[in-house]
Amino acid sequence: METGKRLSSASSPVDESGMVYHLEVKPGDVSRYVLLPGDPGRVKRIASFWDEAWQVAWHREFLTYSGRYRGVFISATSTGIGAPSTAIALEELARVGSDTFIRVGTTGALKREIGVGDLIISTGAVRLEGTSKQYVIPEYPAAADLTVTMALIAAAEELGVRYHLGLTASSDSFYVGQERPGYKGYLPPFQRGLVNFLKSVNVLNFEMEAAAIFTLANIYGLRAGSVCAAIANRETEEFIVNAGVDDAIRVANEAVKILSEWDHAMEEVGRRNITPRIIYEWFRGKT
Ligand code: URA
Repeated sequence: METGKRLSSASSPVDESGMVYHLEVKPGDVSRYVLLPGDPGRVKRIASFWDEAWQVAWHREFLTYSGRYRGVFISATSTGIGAPSTAIALEELARVGSDTFIRVGTTGALKREIGVGDLIISTGAVRLEGTSKQYVIPEYPAAADLTVTMALIAAAEELGVRYHLGLTASSDSFYVGQERPGYKGYLPPFQRGLVNFLKSVNVLNFEMEAAAIFTLANIYGLRAGSVCAAIANRETEEFIVNAGVDDAIRVANEAVKILSEWDHAMEEVGRRNITPRIIYEWFRGKT
């Protein structure tokens, strides 16, 4: 946006075309289906798998591309790291018409059996971040959308990649908040034992954005899922930069294709929710 441009209001800042303040996108620029990586570099990588792609906007940490993946209009916007900027991205994408979001991230696995490079599809997230608490009571669940999650599972199965399904924990801090020693070894007593505790209650992984995405999507009646590549394992102490990231991208892109087919099927049979029959018919059509 040009310097000095006057926006509609201080409480709801858009320009006369409907362009939102941070993302600099307007209605019509982006698909209803948006992939949400943290890293702007990953937006370009995601778009490299599309049939065609164009840059829509780049402002601060928010890079947005739109394009076509196997005939489906699709978009990707980077959220930056952490819940505050991620909530801004979701707020502004919803305002310009997007309603279905897939986080495509990286994560640290908590369980030994999750290999570095494996994928984790989240069914829900423990809200250890602060942003979602500014929206709703702490007891409110950060649940993934069932249809989006089923599409991610279907895509992972179709592509034959190794994936795990379960709960994620989202923190506001990569180091101390995920029980990694801070500078000079700083680790306060209340963070000690966090990894073991989360593991003992069957949480699979640590990342920083899923809880905010799921919470806001539920509050607003939007749909959200998450697929992350495990680049680290906190039990084995392995860390491999970008391990599995291309697999997570392939799964997320393919999930959008599947979702568009299921959304058409739901519309045709007049159902608001995905049903086992729709999924069964879809799988049968593949064989
Ligand atoms: N992202 C995280 O938040 N934690 C990890 O361990 C790896 C990626």
